[in-house]
Amino acid sequence: MSTPRPEALPDKPAATWAGASVEGLSRESLEALLTNRIPAIRVPGFATARECREFCAVTRAGPMRYYSAQPPIGYVGMAQYEYRWDRPKADYFRDVEQADAARDRVFAGAFDALARVNRALAAVWPGRVGLAHEPGLGDYFAGIIRDAAAGIKLHADWGPCNAPDWSVGTIDAQIGWNIYFEVPEAGGDTTVYNAPWSPVMVGNVPPRSYGLDAAELAAGERFSFHPSEGELIFFNVRNPHEVSPGLDGERSRVSIGAFVGRMPDGSLVTWS
Ligand SMILES: [Fe+2]
Repeated sequence: MSTPRPEALPDKPAATWAGASVEGLSRESLEALLTNRIPAIRVPGFATARECREFCAVTRAGPMRYYSAQPPIGYVGMAQYEYRWDRPKADYFRDVEQADAARDRVFAGAFDALARVNRALAAVWPGRVGLAHEPGLGDYFAGIIRDAAAGIKLHADWGPCNAPDWSVGTIDAQIGWNIYFEVPEAGGDTTVYNAPWSPVMVGNVPPRSYGLDAAELAAGERFSFHPSEGELIFFNVRNPHEVSPGLDGERSRVSIGAFVGRMPDGSLVTWS
């Protein structure tokens, strides 16, 4: 049996952003995002138009899986949160090899988006940057490719609550990145609400984090963006966030993304 956690998380960041999103990845902007002082970091043109076309073509040529979420979200790879409940942690690490292979098939026909982002992070971060690792079980999967034309419901991603018994449950901050390869002309906007998710934990059971109630966020600070194709965007994923449905019969919303958490030793670890 696991030990119950305190009822409230003590480290809830102050919910105030200093102005608009920041263009450019630097140590300062990363630290500001990790501590939820800015809404986002944007890096337009992180992938070329040709790389975007290739990434979409290769993704669509291979098999896609679907989350247990509504509306349906197609994906390549795997998501830790699908392994939160009612199954041993070892199931996740058993499946990492297959997920890596599926993602690497896409990388082979386009480019290695995960390595490119990790190089960009390592260039500005003084500590180690690399895959999250679970002692005794192995490395995590990172770099999930998604086709989410119909949008994504309001949810929050926060390791200490979504994965309390995993090594990524020991992080003190969690951001996420996405590179967008195809974006609908209208719709497909992401909205981030400045309200770091701090649910009451009952024992060590991950609470529901998907389909959160928007009512209490209505009056608060928020940031919306419509990404450009090839753009890399980071935001603090502990803040509830959602994606509106695409309103374009032609173009879907194809992206790759991963989480980046800060471990107690100051290293940055990535997983999906
Ligand atoms: Fe998310």
